[in-house]
Amino acid sequence: MNILIMNGPNLNLLGLREPEIYGKGTYAELCARIRAHAGSVGVSVDVRQTNHEGVLIDWLQEEWSKVDGIILNPGALTHYSYALRDAVAAIPVPVVEVHLSDISAREPFRRVSIIRDVCAAQIMGKGFEGYVEAIDWLRKRKG
Ligand code: DQA
Repeated sequence: MNILIMNGPNLNLLGLREPEIYGKGTYAELCARIRAHAGSVGVSVDVRQTNHEGVLIDWLQEEWSKVDGIILNPGALTHYSYALRDAVAAIPVPVVEVHLSDISAREPFRRVSIIRDVCAAQIMGKGFEGYVEAIDWLRKRKG
């Protein structure tokens, strides 16, 4: 099974960035946790991060046909990117929306997810373990 994991703006700053919200773990540690879990369950993962909306859209368009599922943490683009939503809606593979923090319990602008209803599942508020859960959700769905 192949899973593409895409992280959007500012997620490269994990560890430095608002640790009281996102935790002290770095982006490298997040990638290591994801790879360790994927390896232990025999899943192949491609983990990426970009600060650019158009790059996320390009990756969705270029890679969807090569993978069984996609895990997407779009960062703040979650709350306003109709272009990203359209790209997710356009592809036939399941996309799981993941957030480290619980966006439903934060500022009003974060409570809206533009992409939620075009994603197969939404996992939030579980920190790094949310990505692990998303991998397992896609494994179960594939059967
Ligand atoms: C986030 C939540 C977003 O509101 C924020 O802009 C992020 C990270 C999360 O993982 O909790 O960049 O997606």
